[in-house]
Amino acid sequence: MRSFGTRGRVYPDKHYVVPRTEEIADFINRIKEGRYIVLFAPRQTGKTTFFRFATEVFINDDESYFPIQLNFEEYKNLSALDFFMSFNREICKEIERVLQIYGESSTKRLAQFLVDTRISDQVSMREFFEKLPSMLELQHGIKHRVVLIIDEFDGIPQSVLSDFLHSLRYIYLSDEPRGIHSVCIVGVKSITQLNYDRSISPFNIQDEFNLPNFSLEQVQSLLSQYTDEVGQSFESEVITSLHKQTAGQPFLVNRAAQILTEELNIPNHVTIKTEHFAEAYSQLLEERNTNIDHLLTNIRRDRDFEKLLMRIVSRERGLPFNLDNEIIYELMMYGVIKKDSNRMCEIANPIYQHHIVQEF
Ligand SMILES: Nc1ncnc2c1ncn2[C@@H]1O[C@H](COP(=O)(O)OP(=O)(O)OP(=O)(O)O)[C@@H](O)[C@H]1O
Ligand SMILES: [Mg+2]
Repeated sequence: MRSFGTRGRVYPDKHYVVPRTEEIADFINRIKEGRYIVLFAPRQTGKTTFFRFATEVFINDDESYFPIQLNFEEYKNLSALDFFMSFNREICKEIERVLQIYGESSTKRLAQFLVDTRISDQVSMREFFEKLPSMLELQHGIKHRVVLIIDEFDGIPQSVLSDFLHSLRYIYLSDEPRGIHSVCIVGVKSITQLNYDRSISPFNIQDEFNLPNFSLEQVQSLLSQYTDEVGQSFESEVITSLHKQTAGQPFLVNRAAQILTEELNIPNHVTIKTEHFAEAYSQLLEERNTNIDHLLTNIRRDRDFEKLLMRIVSRERGLPFNLDNEIIYELMMYGVIKKDSNRMCEIANPIYQHHIVQEF
């Protein structure tokens, strides 16, 4: 039996999942068009799950794309050389893995190329990517277009960031077919927040991908997967309240559903009603989970956050949602605030609002 997943990435064989089909189709189109995409969103909004689903779709649909997935999470404190050496090893491992998925094995030429590869800086990295497509081309005569996807990009060592982006820009601006057809950079902090001049990055023409919270329909479809499997249904008010109180934040939606279905011991033949939801909601407000830990860490980062958040919470004077204001921009990037229907700042969801009031 599947369950609601709350510990990182979710898998369709183990968890109930929102397929995000439309968003995936949009994402794949942009990859096919050769865009260089950034996907920056707060913690636990489903970034990793999303691009993993998307990669599976295009691996199954179109063998001509060769997605290489990397993760920079561990790199923050590495020297530039150690960073590029690890980058080198990880890329070679990924190439072998993707070949296996495609049921191909490395040709002698490719194997030798990978053995001989020494990526030690941004220039050797660029040269590697310039040669890679022609090395991959030998496989069954299929022309592969390399797609580079980097998760936790903010983990890149500061000393490398600028050179790394310059090389991506160099590749982006080179003649077609490019060594890297499309890039997707995934992270929590945007490139500007990484202290980098946006104007010379390849992402100044950047294609920002927005991964929205779950809509009411998506929450309905998630919960109905449980109902179909277990036979236990939810009163429709429960579903609307769950969506409203979490504002569709992916982790909070799953955590609320998990409390309702696993922790309140409601027998399976009993419909889940609003009083059950009230109990689950109190529990959700009282508990500390990783999502709330992230929220508290973020709002404690800067003394200026408090004043601004209290002004938003008190609603005495509205605060226009102006992203030129650095504090507003940062709080938005951390997923703490959002724009309401009147273009004013609003706390992202009632659960965060509760914790912010408690905190200050
Ligand atoms: N497609 C989905 N269907 C259902 N739940 C999801 C989905 N995507 C994400 N979630 C929920 O969000 C949580 C976090 O997912 P994931 O690890 O993919 O997010 P993330 O943005 O990469 O997080 P982090 O910033 O911590 O790396 C999951 O544990 C699950 O509760
Ligand atoms: Mg992730």
